[in-house]
Amino acid sequence: MASRQAFTDSDTADEAVRATCDDATLSKRFATSKGYWKDLYIQYFARSVGERKAPEINRGYYARVKGVNHLLDAFIRKTECDCQVINVGAGLDTTFWRLKEENLLPRKYFEVDFPTVVARKIHNIKLPTVFVSECVLVYMSPTHSSNLVRWASEMFHTAMFISYEQVNMSDRFGQVMIENLQHRHCTLAGVQVCQSLDSQKERFLKAGWEHADALDMMTVYGMLPQEDVERIERLEFLDEKELLQQLLQHYSICWATKDKLNLGNHTFNKQYTYTFKSV
Ligand SMILES: C[S@@+](CC[C@H](N)C(=O)[O-])C[C@H]1O[C@@H](n2cnc3c(N)ncnc32)[C@H](O)[C@@H]1O
Repeated sequence: MASRQAFTDSDTADEAVRATCDDATLSKRFATSKGYWKDLYIQYFARSVGERKAPEINRGYYARVKGVNHLLDAFIRKTECDCQVINVGAGLDTTFWRLKEENLLPRKYFEVDFPTVVARKIHNIKLPTVFVSECVLVYMSPTHSSNLVRWASEMFHTAMFISYEQVNMSDRFGQVMIENLQHRHCTLAGVQVCQSLDSQKERFLKAGWEHADALDMMTVYGMLPQEDVERIERLEFLDEKELLQQLLQHYSICWATKDKLNLGNHTFNKQYTYTFKSV
């Protein structure tokens, strides 16, 4: 009983210690909002400026941050960045990104804290992620590929998934493509999702992605920088223009996005046509 009580007490005490990282971050966030010093990254760890802090608190944090930075930067400069930094009890501190911005990154930068604090920090800094899958999902059953893209949408809050694969597979040309692969004992287990651009988009929308769009490759070909298209078209003579057209009509690029960090991926979606043209 006594040991159980001791465990509970120490757990509560640890929780109170862990919570101090929020106090520090909120205080730093408020002071930076007042202009005491610049920190472009603290907004990711304290979303709002929060309650007003007294001027003496702000000046105290100013002295703390400037004082520690002064010594840290001096050490890193002295070693010409050929050193390591171990930030003990780093909490949600943003020094790593400041050093990066100021070209002062040491060889290694470690942060140590309670596992729950570290996990929270990792969650907050998960930076935007892009998945690329070229001719892959078509070899998985629709259930498996849906599970994969669902997992990606659940794990990454700011992300894009680019998938290139077959489309319009229910017409005669599509059937011939399937038969040709079957002759090589290769089954397109996911061909059902390749019926149309809509079915491609649906796979993502049903799996939790916020936006999805798709273009067939004939359309993409027309959007590529025409100067370069003209250059590659001069490389070899092409007799069967119709065959190329059919081929391009049976492949597509589908892209889906999630944008919790508000990077503007939604606008990016709308501007994709433009993006294609300006690549
Ligand atoms: C007041 S906060 C300071 C955070 C950060 N250094 C800053 O200035 O923004 C104290 C930090 O030390 C961590 N800490 C305290 N005791 C610890 C321990 N025994 N093991 C790991 N981390 C600890 C807390 O979880 C918390 O993140």
